Amino acid sequence: MKDNKALAEASKQEEYIRRIKSLNDEYFKETGKHKKMLTVTFGCQMNAHDSEKLNGMLLKMGYVRAQGESDADFIIYNTCCVRENAENKVYGNLGFLKHEKKARPDLKIALCGCMMQQPTVIETIRKKYKHVDIVFGTFNIYKLPELMYRNIESGSPIFDIWKEHELIMEDLPAVRKKSFKASVNIMFGCNNFCTYCIVPYVRGRERSRQPEDIIKEIKELVKNGAKEIMLLGQNVNSYGKGLQEEISFARLLRMVNDIEGVERIRFMTSHPKDLSDELIYAMRDCEKVCKHLHLPFQAGNNDILRKMNRRYTKERYLELTEKIKKEIPDIALTTDIMVGFPGEGEAEIEDTVDIVKKVRFSGAFTFIYSKRTGTPAAEMEQTEECVVKSNFNKVLEAVNPIIREINDEKVGKTYSVLAEEVSGGDKELISGRLEDNSLVHFKAPESVIGNIVDVKITDCKTFYLVGEML
Ligand code: SAH
Ligand code: SF4
Ligand code: F3S
Repeated sequence: MKDNKALAEASKQEEYIRRIKSLNDEYFKETGKHKKMLTVTFGCQMNAHDSEKLNGMLLKMGYVRAQGESDADFIIYNTCCVRENAENKVYGNLGFLKHEKKARPDLKIALCGCMMQQPTVIETIRKKYKHVDIVFGTFNIYKLPELMYRNIESGSPIFDIWKEHELIMEDLPAVRKKSFKASVNIMFGCNNFCTYCIVPYVRGRERSRQPEDIIKEIKELVKNGAKEIMLLGQNVNSYGKGLQEEISFARLLRMVNDIEGVERIRFMTSHPKDLSDELIYAMRDCEKVCKHLHLPFQAGNNDILRKMNRRYTKERYLELTEKIKKEIPDIALTTDIMVGFPGEGEAEIEDTVDIVKKVRFSGAFTFIYSKRTGTPAAEMEQTEECVVKSNFNKVLEAVNPIIREINDEKVGKTYSVLAEEVSGGDKELISGRLEDNSLVHFKAPESVIGNIVDVKITDCKTFYLVGEML
């Protein structure tokens, strides 16, 4: 549903796109060269999808893709601040760009994304990184054309950071990396305020897109060759809250399952506290929904979970995963685990290890807790580094052998695999993903990319499989 304000804003941005395009066309006439752009994504899938929207706008402005920083005329860093090292990477790269800009003063540098929503970061950029031309945040990415134009016109740096969203802009011309695999936002923001997490502060309150807008976008994607659809939200299980129409995530999943031409449906992320029976049944019944659930549990100890404000207990998480396995016996479960939250010592980590052993995840992202200024956990007494390190190793020692065992069981069996790309390590091989999201490399011609093919698994390493196409 588009309101008039959003429509007016969209046509305003279209006008700026046209103006920049004509400048770029002139440049081409004069030099015989296209202006080149580079978008670098530092964050999660949501962040990556925002980059696809930025690329969509930049390509419409007449830019072509650069190979790297050194041949780009316009560089945009789409930043993340979920952990400190994500921020450090951005500052490191920005330091390098200082030299690049000195050598090529026409180079334009833009920053956007979650990190820019923090006032201290903006202060640092104003003070120490004066070579940055444009800075904006997570709520106004659709304004990129206007901000670029204002910067070209004025020749001065442009900062435009909003505290909250105003509009949900539909129809941004996102350019997906792979036409056969597309991410679709179903909601933005997060209301959960886990005490360690910065996301609710930088992405704002939860708001869901209208189901008809989502369905329309997916139908359009399918027309353009999409086979796998990834539905994105920080907390997809609370999709629909606040919309006039009564709709749940389970209902939305069934609607997407009914779209002709969609072959695989994935979604992330699910929060255990909001995972309903209705959703379990929808996953069980919908043949296109991958039998894979990413269900982060973070920590196993009930005291720690309470301090994290996760609003479930170890027992509840175990019950929930039992129920899911009972309804969908071939389900693959993956998770996020955080080690080193304030107060998590040697005794507490045993509960995390216990969950790992009981649930048997086929994959897990493991993170060391990173203190984020402004979150409640930053004020709590922090755990000693040596305890964190040894706890982290204990978790890895529990997680990895189980992943290996689960992968071992696949050897000799045949699975349907979406062939995605030429393998990074060996150009003879194609990399693809099983329904449970595990990675397989197999020999096949490049022409299979974008198709779902049968692959027999012949060998297994800890983090990937090897197979042959049938
Ligand atoms: N909305 C999703 C996760 C978003 S952030 C969810 O709730 O599951 C992705 C992962 O980053 C989280 O699951 C968590 O494990 C990790 N993470 C978030 N804040 C962190 C912090 N301060 N330090 C370390 N890891 C963090
Ligand atoms: Fe962060 Fe928790 Fe929201 Fe996930 S649910 S984004 S971990 S606050
Ligand atoms: Fe994602 Fe990082 Fe922002 S994880 S939501 S890009 S803080």
